[in-house]
Amino acid sequence: MELMEGLRSRRAIRQFTAQPVGTGVIEELIAAATLAPSAINLQPWAFVVVPGAARLEALDPEAKAYAAAHLPADSRMRERALDPNFKIFHGAAALIVICAINGESQSFEDCCLAAESLMLAAHAKGLGTCWIGLSRPWLNDPAVKGELGIPAEWHPVAPIILGYPAALAAPTPRETPKVVWSR
Ligand SMILES: Cc1cc2nc3c(=O)[nH]c(=O)nc-3n(C[C@H](O)[C@H](O)[C@H](O)COP(=O)(O)O)c2cc1C
Repeated sequence: MELMEGLRSRRAIRQFTAQPVGTGVIEELIAAATLAPSAINLQPWAFVVVPGAARLEALDPEAKAYAAAHLPADSRMRERALDPNFKIFHGAAALIVICAINGESQSFEDCCLAAESLMLAAHAKGLGTCWIGLSRPWLNDPAVKGELGIPAEWHPVAPIILGYPAALAAPTPRETPKVVWSR
């Protein structure tokens, strides 16, 4: 896929088929993520893979309840998280959590870039992704880290769900950017 076309056509995907994503494909996506730039090339990222739609389905109520409990009472997202039909992982085939693994000041930024590379690589392979920021507080809870095998000293930054898209998402609008040309 041509790069600009990939940038234009990538969408957050929230509807997936039942097709699992193979281990080899996930490994290729992680390799693509590591092509992202990082501050002084420290590559301060690590990847936790939670494979399997059934596993994510089982984790969904817990992650969703945690998110709802940690959102402000007047938040629209909280209302959504409390909807019994809402699935925080949207029935995805796998979750890849990109974690910052050192305390360097820019390691979170590096993980965000790795996440974008992973999402674009997935799109190029016909897979769909969506960043699930709503699950991040849950993933950073020490008990949840223990449950998922995330080392205590890692910081989950970018939770990315993954799967084969069941439906093409509608294009999302973009606003005209605010730009100042300083002279
Ligand atoms: C930091 C971040 C957090 C996000 N969190 C969620 C989330 O918790 N749940 C969700 O369904 N989508 C989430 N998204 C996806 C955005 O809603 C989506 O990217 C945005 O609406 C633009 O649509 P597009 O990705 O199709 O261009 C998140 C995206 C980003 C970058």
